[in-house]
Amino acid sequence: MIMSAVVTNYLREHLPYSTGVLIVVITVVVLRSILMKFVGIPTLKKDFLSHTEDVDPTVSNGEDAGDSIHNDHGGDDDAPRVAFNPQCYPKSQMIERARRFYENMNARRSVRSLSSEPVPLDVIQNIIRTAGTSPSGAHTEPWTFVVVSNKGIKAQIRQIVEAEEEINYRKRMGNKWVEDLKKLKVNWEKPYLDVAPYLIIVLRQAYGLGENGERKTHYYNEISVSIAVGLLLAAVQNAGLVTVTTTPMNAGPALRTLLGRPVNEKVVVLLPVGYPAKDATVPDLKRKELDKIMVLLD
Ligand SMILES: Cc1cc2nc3c(=O)[nH]c(=O)nc-3n(C[C@H](O)[C@H](O)[C@H](O)COP(=O)(O)O)c2cc1C
Repeated sequence: MIMSAVVTNYLREHLPYSTGVLIVVITVVVLRSILMKFVGIPTLKKDFLSHTEDVDPTVSNGEDAGDSIHNDHGGDDDAPRVAFNPQCYPKSQMIERARRFYENMNARRSVRSLSSEPVPLDVIQNIIRTAGTSPSGAHTEPWTFVVVSNKGIKAQIRQIVEAEEEINYRKRMGNKWVEDLKKLKVNWEKPYLDVAPYLIIVLRQAYGLGENGERKTHYYNEISVSIAVGLLLAAVQNAGLVTVTTTPMNAGPALRTLLGRPVNEKVVVLLPVGYPAKDATVPDLKRKELDKIMVLLD
């Protein structure tokens, strides 16, 4: 800036005004790019700023947003605050923990052949508690986890899912999709649905319902529930149990009715949870290497 003042003074005396202005502008631009290159000052191109978010956080697929009458805001300025107790580790311990956690998660596989061996309910409760620690849009916690151990209900769930899945495979999915699934040995038969000791049905609350029936907006409810399912899968793996993420197409409304859940709740995934069957096998899949999934801008 001092330099540009000196340049300006010089030019005022020696050059016409308009030429002076032009030279000053060029000097400033050149100096700025030199600074950015060598000092590393990041700048936002004007173009980026004009790319505003095109997602409406109050709407999920437009089908089921609430009327926004009353909203809970987790970040409310008036909400009481408490001290945060961070769990920090010495660097070597941190590195070791991150590596071990990755190895544990990398051992997770979708298992479609489960044992009927009982699992303590306490373990399932802690798995659900873990899922319930998920972050959610404005802390709306838009999820319901229905846990089914009742044999009769499990059998009905299997009937509903298999009936819909047979139509899906025969008519709705198309040849390409059915072909892609063949290598995973997946078809419409789901014996694990009445063999597994527990079925967990995760429902997304598209909007909340207040005490007087008023609707509450559940911001980003799809993303929030997806994150919760991720935590749930990690908790299942951590407990030494297995599951398979299933998304029974078109079976949602019938399942919701069977489970006695209200209309604001939509079935997202159905997870059989238990021990793997003794003879369980899994497809020989490879995961993408780090350099294919991570982009580092250092
Ligand atoms: C959103 C989602 C939907 C899925 N739906 C089904 C399903 O309906 N039936 C099934 O057998 N597996 C389903 N899967 C499991 C995938 O086939 C499995 O995750 C994938 O083949 C990778 O295998 P892995 O889980 O063992 O790593 C689904 C997985 C995801 C994430």
